[in-house]
Amino acid sequence: MAEEYLSITGGRPLRGEVTVQGAKNSALPLMAAALLCDGETVLTNVPRLTDVYAASRILNQLGCRSHIEDHTVTVTQKGLTGCEIPDADMRQMRSSVMFLGPLLGRAKRCIMTMPGGCELGPRPIDMHLDAMRQMGAVITEEQGKIICDAGKRLCGTRIPLPFPSVGVTENVLMAAALAEGDTVLTNAAREPEIADLAAFLNACGAEISGAGEGTVYIHGKPGLHGTEYCVMPDRIAAFTWLCAGAATGGTVSVRGASPPDLESSLTVLRAAGCRIGICGDRIFLDGSGALRRVRHIRTMPYPGFPTDAQAPVTAVLALARGTSMIEETIFESRYKHVGELLRMGADIRVSGSAAVITGVPALHGAAVTAPDLRGGAALAVAAAAAEGESRISGLRHIDRGYENFAASFHSLGCEAVRCGLH
Ligand code: EPU
Repeated sequence: MAEEYLSITGGRPLRGEVTVQGAKNSALPLMAAALLCDGETVLTNVPRLTDVYAASRILNQLGCRSHIEDHTVTVTQKGLTGCEIPDADMRQMRSSVMFLGPLLGRAKRCIMTMPGGCELGPRPIDMHLDAMRQMGAVITEEQGKIICDAGKRLCGTRIPLPFPSVGVTENVLMAAALAEGDTVLTNAAREPEIADLAAFLNACGAEISGAGEGTVYIHGKPGLHGTEYCVMPDRIAAFTWLCAGAATGGTVSVRGASPPDLESSLTVLRAAGCRIGICGDRIFLDGSGALRRVRHIRTMPYPGFPTDAQAPVTAVLALARGTSMIEETIFESRYKHVGELLRMGADIRVSGSAAVITGVPALHGAAVTAPDLRGGAALAVAAAAAEGESRISGLRHIDRGYENFAASFHSLGCEAVRCGLH
């Protein structure tokens, strides 16, 4: 079968404007949450991504009717016909675990296997299962299947999280929205996508307060109804386009963003010497000055610097004067893009959770492979800055998180073409 690659001819400052897509990491939990609602749920501004199609397939398999048209997903719910997520769908993406909370909330039972997704080191689901256990679910394992059963009812309770996991916080919100009584979730993740999910659930009749803060209160309701809801903008896609501007010494504008959600990421680009302007939902970046090193960046849960922004910023700092250091604290194995950046002439050393980046004056085009979603985006950022042509394969990773990556790069004035490989 022909494998596709992205051909990027780089080496010129990017100039242009791009409109940011809806957030993948919000759209996927919102689709799972539609399972909790009776009647029709209409989600707009949904990015067209392979993970979104996978979530839609799961909804259909569980007995909902999910339909995608352009950027709108319509989910109609008249009672579930199943509570088991097939292994093939579980393996396709990490977000399949987002169906655990809604299925337990709605059907009081969920059967699944271990989720797949980007290989960023071990990605256990122990905290998801522990949280559901605390709400009364009994969890057993049979022939590789994880069977979660809450009997007749799921009960609200106090759940202290050992780590502010995004996915676990989302699963608890969804399960607790239909549980009996009150749930108090402490050490909750504060990512903007959590607040988006809570706003959606509240619009469906849930009673959730504190989402986006460390403690979230959920008063369980007997039922929720569908609504129409617009998915928030994708802060990581927005940051990726800004990084492409920064790495190439260009001037780019990102439209339709939510600038406050990008604050820690913008701080890093400012420290690297970029000038940034904000006007409403637009972020302007002027990267025409010299790029400087950023002494120490540490990935942290929100509002810290996001792990998802680590790979793209590595590509920028590969071209900055001086030595920068990144410390990855969220995932164990999130430096797979580094080996590929070395092929393009970067000087980066990885030791455990640290990457030491010594800026080089220029990168050169090369044939490289996207190791995962954000790693792939980082290679494209580097390719836009590199002299000559780069060919990036492994596009299935990029397609999981960026809608029509080549077209967005084109809007920024980059020569980017998706080609078949025979
Ligand atoms: N973890 C556990 N046990 C669990 C759950 C998580 O040990 O039961 C660990 C993970 O292995 C990881 C850390 O906790 O080391 C953080 O994981 P978290 O649960 O917060 O991440 P996630 O919900 O699996 C979401 C995003 C990721 C993003 C992380 C961190 C979605 C669909 N995915 O994943 O996005 O990196 O939060 O912000 O929302 C991406 O978009 O490229 C991506 C990987």
